[in-house]
Amino acid sequence: MVKIAPSILAADFMHLEEEIKSVEEAGADYIHVDVMDGKFVPNQTPGLEMLKRSKASSHLTIDTHLMVENPSEWVEDFSLSDILTFHLEAVSKEEIVSLIQKIHEKGIKVGIAIKPKTPIKELVPYLSMIDMVLVMTVEPGFGGQKLITSCLRKVKAMRKINKEIDIEVDGGIYPSNIEKVKNAGANVIVAGTAIFQESNRKLAIEALR
Ligand code: DX5
Ligand code: ZN
Repeated sequence: MVKIAPSILAADFMHLEEEIKSVEEAGADYIHVDVMDGKFVPNQTPGLEMLKRSKASSHLTIDTHLMVENPSEWVEDFSLSDILTFHLEAVSKEEIVSLIQKIHEKGIKVGIAIKPKTPIKELVPYLSMIDMVLVMTVEPGFGGQKLITSCLRKVKAMRKINKEIDIEVDGGIYPSNIEKVKNAGANVIVAGTAIFQESNRKLAIEALR
């Protein structure tokens, strides 16, 4: 069964605790926290505050998505996360293995994300060292975008290479396209708008499952 990870980027920040509780009660598996620094992506989010408020108001797995330059410098602050995902494009090749180790040493699972234009072959050397890959299905930076269908080919190819690893997808996922996404082999589904725009969160999550 797929895991559903509501992205709180689309939630009402003024009532974040209630928003988080509503998706927890509705059967969400993870809380997806989008951290943007205004450099790696043009947008900025109060990531640390989002993380702390998520951790305080839910027992769910906290799935933090770092869209930042120099992610290594962010690990300490974000060590409340259960899964910490950084972008391959934000780290030099020489640094990747030590960054994976640094996160694992804190007892946190490691994810590596790739943007739509980054080929999966760049990720393959690290697959045996990490817990999750995040194949972005939109350009990172904003919620509410349209899914780039060609990214699903990368999901398919990744699943062929590794049957076990968690493959997360993020961006533009709705009940109308979820079938294609699952068929490609993704098993962790991030959805912001598709969940938080619906007043009935249980129906929204069930529709994705
Ligand atoms: C985009 C973020 C996503 C975003 C998804 O850069 O990583 O997590 O919140 O939002 P939707 O589901 O609205 O496309
Ligand atoms: Zn995200």
